[in-house]
Amino acid sequence: MQSNRILDRKIDNKDFSRREFPMLEKNFEFLSKMANKETGIQLGEHKRDLVYSRIVRRIRVLKLKNFNQYCEYLVRNKDKELGDFVNAITTNLTSFFREKHHFDFLSDTVYPEIIAQKKSSKKIRAWSAGCSTGEEPYSLAISLDKTFGSKKEWDVKVLATDLDTNVLSFGREGIYTPERLDGLSRSITHNNFTKIPNPDGRGSVFSVSDHLRRYITFNQLNLLNEWPIKGKFDFIFCRNVVIYFNKETQQILFDRYANALKPNGYLFIGHSETLHGVTTRFESLGKTVYRKIS
Ligand SMILES: C[S@@+](CC[C@H](N)C(=O)[O-])C[C@H]1O[C@@H](n2cnc3c(N)ncnc32)[C@H](O)[C@@H]1O
Repeated sequence: MQSNRILDRKIDNKDFSRREFPMLEKNFEFLSKMANKETGIQLGEHKRDLVYSRIVRRIRVLKLKNFNQYCEYLVRNKDKELGDFVNAITTNLTSFFREKHHFDFLSDTVYPEIIAQKKSSKKIRAWSAGCSTGEEPYSLAISLDKTFGSKKEWDVKVLATDLDTNVLSFGREGIYTPERLDGLSRSITHNNFTKIPNPDGRGSVFSVSDHLRRYITFNQLNLLNEWPIKGKFDFIFCRNVVIYFNKETQQILFDRYANALKPNGYLFIGHSETLHGVTTRFESLGKTVYRKIS
């Protein structure tokens, strides 16, 4: 008897129209279509829970009663609400030196190649596309600084972009809790962060040092829109971003990355992503590292 009640509750829990803030089938369809059109992100059936929990926060803030009202609100106030809607549905999981082998490849292969080739124009341009809360571009800055920091004649810059304005503010601020620095060696932490009192009064936090900040420019950019970018990149990190896009959107995007890279430039993608069957403009060097070939 008791186990049936538990089962009933579980089934009810999947019936989103009976939750505290009812979400009807048509509401989910509307929101996933809007997400796809505005961001390229695909919110399939399995993302219902995610959509519910993320949008409920907006519903509470706006003091609405259900998803129907939220969809109507979004239509009527699109200019005002779209940014918060987009911020709510993005997934921003990241960490310092995520997929360490990419950073090893930079130090072992890419940097020596650049040093050998660029005898006159000592300039490096890197792009962290879908940079989330900044751990990826700061990891790039740490890695670049280790090789080029002492070579003052080098002009090194990292462009960090994301669609989500909340994560960009976080990245720009560059302040991380000790847990976020877990896994970084003592020397990396010591050389690149300053320990400061936590503004909320609890313990300490770590602020990115100025010598790293100067490498990075954070800008909002929707990868599906125009890219106001001048010049070409030596390498692009676009990791764990296209996983949420359909194949057609990925094809367009990777073609644009090939155009944005210098000849033989490198593209780094996420561990569960591939260019196989998506584009022929890159050759695979293994372990989700690609080189532009055309
Ligand atoms: C899971 S995070 C990956 C962060 C980092 N690249 C990494 O691998 O650790 C994905 C990021 O892509 C961003 N994103 C999703 N769709 C985007 C779009 N259309 N344009 C720009 N950024 C987008 C999200 O806001 C999110 O911060």
